[in-house]
Amino acid sequence: MKLLIHDLNENEWKEISAEYRDWETVRDNGSIKPCVGCFGCWVKNPGECVIKDGYERVAALMHRAEEITVISRYAYGGFSSFIKNVFDRSIGLVLPFFEIHEGEMHHKRRYEEDLPIRFIFRGTGLTDEDKERARQYVNAVCRNFRGNILSIEFEECSEPGRQDAGALPAGGDQSEKTILLNCSMRGNKANSKKFLDILSGQISGEKENINLSSYVGRESELIGILGSASKLVFGMPLYVDGIPSQLLRIMEKMEGQQRKGNKTIYAVANMGFYESAQIKNLLGMVGAWCEKCGYVYGGGLAIGAGEMMGNGKLAEMPKGPAGNMIKGLEKLGNAVSESRVAGDIYADASGFSRGMYMACANFSWMPQARKNGLKKRDLFRRK
Ligand SMILES: Cc1cc2nc3c(=O)[nH]c(=O)nc-3n(C[C@H](O)[C@H](O)[C@H](O)COP(=O)(O)O)c2cc1C
Repeated sequence: MKLLIHDLNENEWKEISAEYRDWETVRDNGSIKPCVGCFGCWVKNPGECVIKDGYERVAALMHRAEEITVISRYAYGGFSSFIKNVFDRSIGLVLPFFEIHEGEMHHKRRYEEDLPIRFIFRGTGLTDEDKERARQYVNAVCRNFRGNILSIEFEECSEPGRQDAGALPAGGDQSEKTILLNCSMRGNKANSKKFLDILSGQISGEKENINLSSYVGRESELIGILGSASKLVFGMPLYVDGIPSQLLRIMEKMEGQQRKGNKTIYAVANMGFYESAQIKNLLGMVGAWCEKCGYVYGGGLAIGAGEMMGNGKLAEMPKGPAGNMIKGLEKLGNAVSESRVAGDIYADASGFSRGMYMACANFSWMPQARKNGLKKRDLFRRK
């Protein structure tokens, strides 16, 4: 079986469908839900997403395919929100357990094969720099998902219409307010929320903390609220080496907004792996989006070992493993208060080695699996 994952609209698909006549196809039927960050695909129903919306089995399809082609609109150096959503929902392809792969922390493989994948990015007037960004991103994804890149191609296309752009509120009238948007679907339980709460305490002036998860299905309303602020801080988890699809969807819509107004955008991104440097592509994407929208990119804080940093009392111990993160939040907080550009800050754990973190993380999966009635061997299931 050959597998095509695409985000083409009906007309675009008609033009090329004959080429893919016998292929299994994953396309946007409007029903896909964002990943909720529950790790059910590792500790509840290993290898398959627990959200039943018709996209839960894509990881198994990818594994079975003898060849995969991904066709995506180019979005800020990576995939469109739909394609990203499909990848976010497919992390069951790998195991929860960590190992060092090509010098970085990654997941152990669930399946023996490397996925043979061809990528086709479609966009208007893509520059050499855009193409290089996409190559870097796809390389990171394939290191993570154990993909074997067959090719990375770029196609010129007319700018595809963004859904509902016309129905969105114009983003012009705004106050000197800062909105801190927690973009994790874990809502109040998210690590992102904890980091934003600390940051919020360091920002002077009017500010508001909002959970994106409270606005699912009401994105236009959220975009209207975001439009009222002159400074936005996006707090988010790193998902498959990039921006989680639920935020990407909002960003795509904001790009289509009339009268965007002047804004400065900051980001706080955290991750499961140890090396904060793996967040570089994500911060680059936020910067590229700002450039497209005419916003100022104020910089980002990349937090390595985020599942540990968001846990317990660490954030109150400046001399502990979270020391770099605490300094980073302070620096970013000052920049936001003064509406300054901070540049990107990378915060790794201090005095807590990668080996120690990996051992703790690998140990943490079994208690979660046991709660769901699973034994260790169940976590290695193949679909
Ligand atoms: C779908 C999905 C994809 C993920 N991809 C990555 C990744 O590429 N690299 C990484 O270091 N962590 C990855 N993680 C781990 C999260 O970044 C990590 O658990 C983070 O602390 C969650 O933050 P939150 O509580 O704010 O959602 C992923 C988690 C999920 C659920």
